[in-house]
Amino acid sequence: MTSDFTDSLRAFAEEFDLQFNKLLTPKGEVPQTLVDAMRHTTLAPGKRLRPYLVARSCELAGGRREDAWAVGAAIESIHAFSLIHDDLPAMDDDDLRRGRLTCHKAFGEAVAILAGDALSVYAFELLAAHTPSPKMAVDLIRELAQATGWSGMIGGQTADILGERESPTLSKASYIHERKTAALIRAACRMGALRGGGDSNLVDRVGAFGSHFGKAFQITDDLLDLTSSTEVMGKRVGKDSTASKQTFPQCVGLEESRAIVLAEVERAVEQLAILGSDADDLRSLARYVTDRNY
Ligand code: IPE
Ligand code: IPE
Ligand code: MG
Ligand code: MG
Ligand code: MG
Repeated sequence: MTSDFTDSLRAFAEEFDLQFNKLLTPKGEVPQTLVDAMRHTTLAPGKRLRPYLVARSCELAGGRREDAWAVGAAIESIHAFSLIHDDLPAMDDDDLRRGRLTCHKAFGEAVAILAGDALSVYAFELLAAHTPSPKMAVDLIRELAQATGWSGMIGGQTADILGERESPTLSKASYIHERKTAALIRAACRMGALRGGGDSNLVDRVGAFGSHFGKAFQITDDLLDLTSSTEVMGKRVGKDSTASKQTFPQCVGLEESRAIVLAEVERAVEQLAILGSDADDLRSLARYVTDRNY
């Protein structure tokens, strides 16, 4: 990542993390090891792409940036939960995440499982506590539950694990990517627009943007697993083929996968056509995915 846009994403991540740190500080009495394990992976340096999508979609809908912090924190908590469990020995069995030991390497498997569980529930507590109207809270909670559960990220992660035993096909890889990654990215866009008071047209439009962008994002992750390095990524690379994952490069090779990424990014950007220059940050984010290196 080498552009002005990278700098603005980093600046956003710093601003978001100040709020996230506060939100991830318990008010009552909580086992300290659980707090430490939850914070270990969650507050490690991630790109904060999902909170960025929440904030920009919220502003696009006419909301204030500060309205988006708790929604961004909720999505990022679900994302961190997915990463902690994804790294467990029973899943991808990784020892490095965001440049740190994975949660189970630092705290043991039992505490890592529980830290993921606690983050998955805390996301909904955040939405319930920081949304102005009960109707909006229910709408946000429904969006996040659907994107996280059996028809979203968890369904996709299940298909990803079961798919290790099957021959790779583009339709299986697409099914997995749409659920394990794009569902939450789509929800980040939709929830940001909802929180900002956007109408259903805007919510659907940014959601469609998120679906295409999310797919391009995961295919790029598959590509980086083959072409980047552990130092740059802060996580192990070269693992997908060893684990026989359903990936795009495995199905159609590097060049065709890159072409599909470009096509998905263009489809994502097309969704924003009627939104004018207000959507420029979302366009820049979509295009950045094609040349990101971590
Ligand atoms: C990693 O997501 C897992 C995928 C869905 C590809 P990110 O690449 O957004 O990871 P962080 O949040 O920056 O660590
Ligand atoms: C993970 O996909 C998607 C999640 C829901 C966590 P990967 O297994 O490819 O993600 P990395 O490469 O470990 O970050
Ligand atoms: Mg995985
Ligand atoms: Mg993994
Ligand atoms: Mg990966």
